[in-house]
Amino acid sequence: MTKPQLLIDTDPGVDDALAILMAHAHADIAGLSIAAGNVGLEHTVRNARTLMDLVGATAPVFGGCPTPLVRAPEEDAAFVHGMDGFGDVGFPEPKVTASDEQAALALLRLTHERPGELTLVALAPLTNVALALRLDPSLPQRVKRLVVMGGAVTGHGNTGNIPAEFNIGFDPEAAHVVFEAFPHFDLVDWEATLRHAFDETEFDGWLAAGDHRAAFFGQVFRTARSFNARSKRRGIIAADALAMAVAIDPSIVTRSEERHAAVELDGRLTRGATVVDWAGRLGHRANTRIVLEVDQARFAAMVRRALGAA
Ligand code: BDR
Ligand code: CA
Repeated sequence: MTKPQLLIDTDPGVDDALAILMAHAHADIAGLSIAAGNVGLEHTVRNARTLMDLVGATAPVFGGCPTPLVRAPEEDAAFVHGMDGFGDVGFPEPKVTASDEQAALALLRLTHERPGELTLVALAPLTNVALALRLDPSLPQRVKRLVVMGGAVTGHGNTGNIPAEFNIGFDPEAAHVVFEAFPHFDLVDWEATLRHAFDETEFDGWLAAGDHRAAFFGQVFRTARSFNARSKRRGIIAADALAMAVAIDPSIVTRSEERHAAVELDGRLTRGATVVDWAGRLGHRANTRIVLEVDQARFAAMVRRALGAA
C-alpha cells in the first residue's frame, strides 16, 4: 500500500505532537503549515521544528498567520499545554529551520505541484487554510481530502463559550470560510475525542515500552496530563491524534453521519459553535462526514507504533 501523502496544518501543542509522530510513522509529510492557537506562533513554529529534529525528518515548516482573521482570541490553551505549548520542558533551540514562505502560500504552491495527491489534515484554528482559500478559491479542487479536528457537534465544547470547541472557537471566521468553501470534509470533533480516550495504565505501558519518541512525549505531556486530571477528564485524550488516524486511514471509521455543518459567528453565548443540521431541515447538501466512532484497537496500534512501542 502506498503511504498517504499529508499536508499538516497544526499548532503544536501536545496532542499535535502525538499526531505528527503518527504522521511520521505511517505517512509521508509534504509540509507543516503552522498556526497560532494553543500558544503563540513563535512557540508553535519552534515546537514543529523541535519535532522534526526529534524524528530526523526533512519536511518543511512554514510559519503562518499570528492572529485570527478578525477578532483577537478570547483565550489560548497555554493552561493545558504549558506556556510554550510543549509542557515547559525547556528543549534546546532546534537545528531544523523554518522556511521563509508564508504557510498559506505554501499550501497553494504544494497543492499546485501535486494536484489531487495531498490530504490536508487541519489540527489547529483554520486561519492559514482560510487565508489560502481567500487567495485561491480553487484550492479544494487540488486537495485529495480534508480532515478537520474541530467542533463539538452536539454542543459539548471545551471553551468558555460553552458549545464551542477550541480550534473553531479561536478563529470562527476562518472556520466559516473553510466550512463554506470545501464541498466535503471529514470532521473529527471534540466529543468523538472524548469517546476515544485511551486507558491511562495501558498508555503508560506504551510510554514505558517505547523509544525516544515515547520519552519525548512523556515529557511534553506531563503538564496537560495534570490539567486533565484536575478537570476530572477521564483517560488519555488525544484529539489531534484521532483526526490523524482518520487522515492516515479513513477505513478506521466505523460509524459516521453525513450532515451539513456551519459555524456560529455571533451569538451572545455561542460564538464559535458548530451547528449541525441533524434533521436536514434547511435542505442543504451535506458538507461533512462527521466521524462518530473509529476502531479503537486500530487507533491504539497506530499510536503505539508512533511511540516506538509496537
Ligand atoms: C483542539 O484544541 C487544541 O487545544 C488541541 O491541540 C486540539 O487541536 C482540541 O479542542
Ligand atoms: Ca491542535
